[in-house]
Amino acid sequence: MKILVVGGGGREHAIIKKLKENKNIQEIYALPGNGGIALDAVCIPIGACEIDKIVEFAVKEKIDYAIVAPDDPLVLGCVDALETTGIPCFGPRAAAAVIEGSKVFSKNLMKKYNIPTAEYEVFDNINEALKYLDSAPIPTVIKADGLALGKGVTVALTRDEAKKAVKEAMQEKKFGESGNRIVIEEYLEGPEVSVLSFTDGKCIKPMVSSMDHKRSGDNDTGLNTGGMGTISPNPYYTADIAKECMEKIFIPTVNAMNKEGRTFKGCLYFGLMLTKDGPKVIEYNCRFGDPETQVVLPLLESDLLTLMMAVTNQTLSETEVKFKNENACCVIMASKGYPVSYKKGFEITVPDDIMDSLFFAGAVEKNGRLLTNGGRVLGVTSVAKTLKCAIQKSYEKVNKISFENAYFRNDIGQKALKASEV
Ligand code: AMP
Ligand code: GLY
Repeated sequence: MKILVVGGGGREHAIIKKLKENKNIQEIYALPGNGGIALDAVCIPIGACEIDKIVEFAVKEKIDYAIVAPDDPLVLGCVDALETTGIPCFGPRAAAAVIEGSKVFSKNLMKKYNIPTAEYEVFDNINEALKYLDSAPIPTVIKADGLALGKGVTVALTRDEAKKAVKEAMQEKKFGESGNRIVIEEYLEGPEVSVLSFTDGKCIKPMVSSMDHKRSGDNDTGLNTGGMGTISPNPYYTADIAKECMEKIFIPTVNAMNKEGRTFKGCLYFGLMLTKDGPKVIEYNCRFGDPETQVVLPLLESDLLTLMMAVTNQTLSETEVKFKNENACCVIMASKGYPVSYKKGFEITVPDDIMDSLFFAGAVEKNGRLLTNGGRVLGVTSVAKTLKCAIQKSYEKVNKISFENAYFRNDIGQKALKASEV
């Protein structure tokens, strides 16, 4: 089989490495991939949002199955376009990807179908938003409606901060068109859990839970990033909470999307907060999370391609989704200065014996050498019987990797470790 994977980050590398365990796959193409992914797949210089070119390539190469991993091409209808040519795909169509593409859509969906989430108001007029903030409870949360590279959310601890965030989004257009409408949301507190799930629109099978570390600095300080590391499973996510989420959130979401005529097929990601009033949805993503995928897929025991095709063919209920009873930890190595500004082009040196543990993101190949080429450069994952051991193994590997200006958090998994020891 010939497989095409749209995207070029650590998540896509984790998907590709997992797919390679399936011996029926002859060739994997990554569009565009990156210098590190090129060690495991054929990288083609076509951007993830160049939908016409992706379709042209897929038809020409007689691709048997396509996986669209990032949010932007999903929201833009990449799956719809590929399916029109008869190529089966993993990923939601645009009508369903809107669950991530528009916060206003997802908030209204949850309200309509009684799915627990933070209280909210929607604004498309800046003066009304600012007036509302004069008396809104503080802290509060400001969210741009559309996609914003994971940066469209501001947790405002003061009224001034909240107003500044509204002005940045609606007046200064910090997130372009994505900020024309905003959601102002109730501030929730509690441990956060990421749950990725397979759903074919008929049933939903959650994957093992995980915990992201979004802030750039140790002890959750500094700016929000795309994610500086992950662990799995998440110790806060007990069997009882999982059952409650299944009944009150996961199944109702799948049913709601069906009722709206927007059947979701693919990986549906639930960003949850475990509040004192029960689990609530912080966000939906229409795709595998990054770096969550870099801990979840290494724990997957079942064959990934079989599962993905079961989603496409709507036979997921008959297909087993099995995970190893182990722990995983992923530490992201980034370029110093990320997520603001950073230099790139530095050589990455890695001993051969740990290449299997690595998922490359911001890396480019030049004259046989791998150079840094982005904010998040690579993820280092370890799987072990205990979380403590997985963390230790990942940091041992991190210490064997070098590139100029390398930066990573030193405390990935520590909060989870404390929670699991209580
Ligand atoms: P997002 O970009 O939607 O993943 O949001 C980024 C982060 O903002 C989340 O991981 C939470 O830590 C925080 N956040 C989002 N919504 C809320 C909320 N209603 N209350 C408290 N924190 C929130
Ligand atoms: N790690 C969070 C996300 O993928 O959106």
